[in-house]
Amino acid sequence: MEKPAILVVEDDANVGESIRLLLKKRGYSIFLASNGREALRLLRQETVNLVITDLVMPKMDGMALLEAVKKFKPETEVIVISAQGTIERAVQAIKMGAFDFIEKPINPRIIALVVERALEKETLLLQSRDLHSRLEGQFHFSNIVGKSEKMRRVFQLIRHIAPYDSSVLIMGESGTGKELIANAIHYNSPRSPMPFIKVSCATLSEGIIESELFGHERGAFTGAITSRKGRFELAHGGTLFLDEVEDIPAATQIKLLRVLQEGEFDRVGGSRTIHVNIRVIAASNRDLQEEVEKGTFREDLYYRLNVVNIKLPPLRERREDISLLVPFFIEKYNQKYQMEVKGISQRAMDVLLHYPWRGNVRELENTIESILVVHSPSTIDLPHLPPEIRNVEESQEVIPVRLGTPLEEVEKEILLETLRMTKGNKRKAAKLLGIHVRTIHRKMEEL
Ligand SMILES: Nc1ncnc2c1ncn2[C@@H]1O[C@H](COP(=O)(O)OP(=O)(O)OP(=O)(O)O)[C@@H](O)[C@H]1O
Ligand SMILES: [Mg+2]
Repeated sequence: MEKPAILVVEDDANVGESIRLLLKKRGYSIFLASNGREALRLLRQETVNLVITDLVMPKMDGMALLEAVKKFKPETEVIVISAQGTIERAVQAIKMGAFDFIEKPINPRIIALVVERALEKETLLLQSRDLHSRLEGQFHFSNIVGKSEKMRRVFQLIRHIAPYDSSVLIMGESGTGKELIANAIHYNSPRSPMPFIKVSCATLSEGIIESELFGHERGAFTGAITSRKGRFELAHGGTLFLDEVEDIPAATQIKLLRVLQEGEFDRVGGSRTIHVNIRVIAASNRDLQEEVEKGTFREDLYYRLNVVNIKLPPLRERREDISLLVPFFIEKYNQKYQMEVKGISQRAMDVLLHYPWRGNVRELENTIESILVVHSPSTIDLPHLPPEIRNVEESQEVIPVRLGTPLEEVEKEILLETLRMTKGNKRKAAKLLGIHVRTIHRKMEEL
């Protein structure tokens, strides 16, 4: 298993060394360079999967290096490090093709996350040629996989609405792919060369969310030593992704509404009105309409966000996608970990097909990744599955049914699940269901 190699370019030896240690601990192999020229020399000699570069450096600075990498090795992602005062340039770097920027002082968790995402993108790019030929075009869209009727409708909708500027509200349980969809919309829109900026509304405390969104002027509050642009300004020309939008505090909701209506706002502690041109995509794992009825979410804001509505069905309501997602993830992690897992046995796949997947696609993806890492099997089989998944079949004699599900669907699900429980024995199933075995035959034919 080969470790991904990262080239760190930083003229301050202390900072360079601390990044090296941080990433080494995470299992990457690291090259260090102190300016752009040295970095280019290393890039020619070594296999490098990712470049992390400071912006201000003697000899050849980060921007010039970025330009050279994008010309010379466009598939290599570049992350730029920005210090206070160079944020503008970092944003410029993103426009020039940098993957992302991280701010100094470097937060170990953030750098690890950004690195992981950048490397993931690299492998996906490398394998996409492969996948294109293997998966039929209509079953995937920007790395979103699915062949169920429900997902195909979602792909169609995205293709259709991506080019327009209308707000989009994506609703779905945790792990159903909301962020993936938001990304796909942005990258399939004319705004794609401009930034895609994400705000995780749930992780921002009430006190700081406004300065995060709208920025602040110097002296706006204790600690505001310099003025700072908010995410709205950073997203100018591009897309702002409001994740977990249901968690925006009431006072901020009204300000948000104003920006959406007028396209303008003030920084915290500022009096100058700032105009922005952005597209907003919001995501929620709750039913926002219900939150409106409960009075925790403003109705006018809801209507503003909900111009286009995308509902992502939970994985258990589109089980046919599992048989496409499993090979997709095997391929993805084969690439990531340099493995050659060939596939999955039918009996193991059967178990995956029937598992309830409360954590949705994310849970499925994590399961496949962990099987590969723990067992690196040549083919995935029953013993490789985690016990909680393997055992669910025997214990699971209950299926969740959402109120309001059409009876026809409920009947179908109960019929199929009962047959599964009786291992396909129709006579036994008929007895349990209190119907004649002929009725089962007839219903099966109708399905
Ligand atoms: N249809 C899909 N095809 C391929 N990968 C998918 C699909 N749906 C989700 N994933 C993967 O599953 C993981 C979870 O997706 P994502 O983060 O978009 O979910 P989410 O709905 O935003 O979850 P949460 O509400 O917990 O934030 C990601 O790694 C994503 O790439
Ligand atoms: Mg998410």
